[in-house]
Amino acid sequence: MKIKKIWLVPFSPTGTSKKVIAAIASGMAGIPVEELDLTYTAAAGTVRFGPDEVVIIGVPVYAGRVAPLAVSRLSALQGDHTPAVIVATYGNRDFEDALVELRDIARQASFVPLAAGTFIGEHSFSGPETPIAPGRPDGPDLATAAEFGTRIGAKLASLAGPDPACCPALPGNVPYREGGTPLPFTPLLLEAACTQCGTCLTACPNGAIALQDKIEIDVERCMFCCACIKICPESALVIDAAPIRQIRQWLHEHCAARQEPELFV
Ligand SMILES: Cc1cc2nc3c(=O)[nH]c(=O)nc-3n(C[C@H](O)[C@H](O)[C@H](O)COP(=O)(O)O)c2cc1C
Repeated sequence: MKIKKIWLVPFSPTGTSKKVIAAIASGMAGIPVEELDLTYTAAAGTVRFGPDEVVIIGVPVYAGRVAPLAVSRLSALQGDHTPAVIVATYGNRDFEDALVELRDIARQASFVPLAAGTFIGEHSFSGPETPIAPGRPDGPDLATAAEFGTRIGAKLASLAGPDPACCPALPGNVPYREGGTPLPFTPLLLEAACTQCGTCLTACPNGAIALQDKIEIDVERCMFCCACIKICPESALVIDAAPIRQIRQWLHEHCAARQEPELFV
C-alpha cells in the first residue's frame, strides 16, 4: 500500500517516547513526516487521519498501563482504517498491560495497529545518585528503532491495504492490571536555588505549575511525571516524598539489568 504521510504522535513528558518514535520514522525513508505532539496540549477537537497515512503513537508506561493523561489526549484521534505503529516506553522495570491497552485504544478509534514495540527510556525517577536505565534510549536502542521502521516500511509495501488480520499478537492481559492511583505528592521546590525562570511552567504537561510569589505546584494536577525536575536548569526541583524515594531506591537496586526493546511486526 502507498503511504502519503507519517504522523508522529508522542505523549512524552521526559522526551524518551518522542525520541524512539522519531527514530522509527527515520527508518521509513522517503515518506514525509509531520508531528502532532500531545504532551503539552490537548488537540482542539477531533483529529482525523486517512487510510493512506501511518500514525506512530508513542507513550510512557505508568504503573504497567498507558499514562492516564496520554489516554485522555489520545481520545481526540480518529482513524479511518489508518495503519498505526504503537510504542510503549518504560523505565526498565516492566510494561505489563500497557501495550495491549494502547492497541485497544488505537483499534477503538479505527486505527489498524500493524506493528508494535516496547522500548526502554531512562526512568522518570532516575537521578545521578540512583540511576535507573540512565541514558536510554541509547545508540543501540535508536538503531533498533530505525531498523524496526525499515521493517514496518517493508510490511506496508507488501500489503494491499491495512488488513486487521495482519496485526501481530501482543503480550499483556485483558482485563488490564489496575492502574496506579494519583500520587498525593509533588516535587519539592528548593526555593534558594529557584531563579523563577519559568522553564518548569512550560515543561509541565498538565498545567500544574504556577508562578505567583514563588513556584507553586498543584498536587491535584501533578502526575509526578518529573518533566519539571529533569528540565530545571538550577536543579531546584527534587524528589523529596519518602514513598517515591523508596520506590526510586527499589528500582535502582532491582531494575539494573538491561532490558531490551521488543518488536512485534
Ligand atoms: C508515575 C510513573 C509511573 C511509572 N511506571 C512505570 C512502570 O510501571 N514500569 C516502568 O518500567 N517504568 C515506569 N515509569 C517510567 C517511565 O515509563 C519511563 O521513564 C518512560 O521512559 C517515560 O517516558 P517519556 O520520557 O516519554 O515521558 C513510570 C514513570 C512515572 C512518572
